[in-house]
Amino acid sequence: MCGIVGYVGNDQVAPILLKGLAKLEYRGYDSAGVAVYDGTSIQVVKSKGRLKVLDEKIHGGADLSGTVGIGHTRWATHGKPSDLNAHPHSSESGRFAIVHNGVIENYLELKSFLAEQGCHFISETDTEVVAQLLDFNYHGDLLDAVITTLKKIRGSYAFGILCSDFPDRVIGVRKESPLIVGLGNGENFIASDIPAILERTRDIYRLQENEIAVIKADGVTVYNMEKQTVEKETCHIDWDISAAEKGGYDHFMAKEIMEQPKAVRDTISPRIKNGRIVLDHISLTREQIEKFNRILVVACGSAYHVGVVAKYIFERFTHIPVEVDVASEFRYRDPIIDKNVLVLVISQSGETADTLAALREAKRLGARTISIVNVVGSSIANESDDVLYTWAGPEIAVATTKAYSTQLAVIYLLAIYISEKIGVMSEADYQFYISELQSLPDKIAETLDSREHIHETAKQFYQKDDIFFIGRNIDYAMSLEGSLKLKEISYIHSEAYAAGELKHGTISLIENGTLVIALATQKRLFEKMMSNVKEVKARGATVLGVTTYGNQHIEKESDFVFYVPEICDMMLPSLAVLPLQIFAYYVAYLKGCDIDKPKNLAKSVTVE
Ligand code: F6R
Repeated sequence: MCGIVGYVGNDQVAPILLKGLAKLEYRGYDSAGVAVYDGTSIQVVKSKGRLKVLDEKIHGGADLSGTVGIGHTRWATHGKPSDLNAHPHSSESGRFAIVHNGVIENYLELKSFLAEQGCHFISETDTEVVAQLLDFNYHGDLLDAVITTLKKIRGSYAFGILCSDFPDRVIGVRKESPLIVGLGNGENFIASDIPAILERTRDIYRLQENEIAVIKADGVTVYNMEKQTVEKETCHIDWDISAAEKGGYDHFMAKEIMEQPKAVRDTISPRIKNGRIVLDHISLTREQIEKFNRILVVACGSAYHVGVVAKYIFERFTHIPVEVDVASEFRYRDPIIDKNVLVLVISQSGETADTLAALREAKRLGARTISIVNVVGSSIANESDDVLYTWAGPEIAVATTKAYSTQLAVIYLLAIYISEKIGVMSEADYQFYISELQSLPDKIAETLDSREHIHETAKQFYQKDDIFFIGRNIDYAMSLEGSLKLKEISYIHSEAYAAGELKHGTISLIENGTLVIALATQKRLFEKMMSNVKEVKARGATVLGVTTYGNQHIEKESDFVFYVPEICDMMLPSLAVLPLQIFAYYVAYLKGCDIDKPKNLAKSVTVE
């Protein structure tokens, strides 16, 4: 949610900022801007629209001279996308320019205070208030001004700050929004995410809450709020820049869909040693696990949908009752939690504001927390008691695919692990499920082979206005994800329903030609699903069934079918989700949608 990049070095800064922002556009793309110190003063150029509008305006950065600067790509929160609301924002004197990712909750209060002191505002943003407040608090010492300002603001932020009185530096600071520092040779950086700076350096560290980084060409010093210096440990990034490039695919989403066999293999393989699941990073003992009387899964969006699948899996495998909560709801429902509750937090980015807040709330209430996270060192990973990383690699497309699949893989691993630890699963079943798990990457690859058939099928439906997904049990959980994938990238209205629930209201929407995608992978519920399929067919629906190879009975009731390979019931979601992802992709493709950057969305949602 909003991308920040900052540079101090010896090269012309504006083209470097534009290149970095291009790698961060997945975080927001309604406007973009840069601020550069040109030797005399800070020059700010910004414009509504995609980064290319800004790029053209400043001729790839050539128009701006200077070697120190900050840049921003925006996902609007306060104030509509416009030239004026775009970042960077400046103080009235022009001494400060800042870029911001996050939300300042008390900005109205601060704004009226500053207005009373004579400040004038030109934008609707909370960020401009911080720029003015910095100037108000500035009495010659930059660090003091930053610290005094941080003490006055409430909310979430990552800031990049330029001050014309100190033209040799950029300040970076964060709270509840990510910010990394990149260490180069005679040049140093701040950025919201690694791909923004990977072309120039692989040595980074992540700033922790309210650490203030003073970035200069010849070095970086990090301070805490007491103005003491903080030692940071550098981390070397060894993944290749190509991991964050499209690699010949039309879209990141297509590439990431195809990367799923590898991502799932990378997530599972290192954790199965000599036929046993080894979760090195889980410090829980058998006695501790035995005391859990409830598991609570908290997440947002697709990660929440993984949670819905996890409920079925954990209850079946461990016999421990499971609740699943949308993180933004969990926070405000006064949850009843104590030390006997295991809270599982799922997040690709590890920075989602609501999920992070839910984690903190769960910890405050005494729960034991485990996070399932893709971004190493992210806030959620750092703050949970234990972390299980998904090894999906960087996910750039806004719509998640490979992160979702690796999260599911970790759920299987953890559920089987816990089940065996507390003696619920027999040794024979344990061995069976491990071998099923090991077969998953190949079966994912086999499922992806049918993408051309799915492409052809999508051609029949891409002009539909409404598409329904139905399923029972774990297939219902899949329906939620299938429907979200479709609507977020193709903008087709879609609903997901528990198949038995449809007739309690929603079936009134089914009419001649309505497409209903019926997930029927669970053998024991197949007959029941077919009854629900008959109900919608009787009302004129066209049915696209999803089931396992060999289950031709579905062809009697469905007009179209996607088949997936056989695997144990509990792991079928990992295969059934694939045709749904591919279908959504091709529908959006055929409609000409901007697949990797759907309208109104951003990848990392760091505001509440
Ligand atoms: C949908 C999607 C989102 C995320 C959600 C949580 O395709 O990607 O629904 O799943 O915003 O994000 P993370 O997993 O980063 O916490």
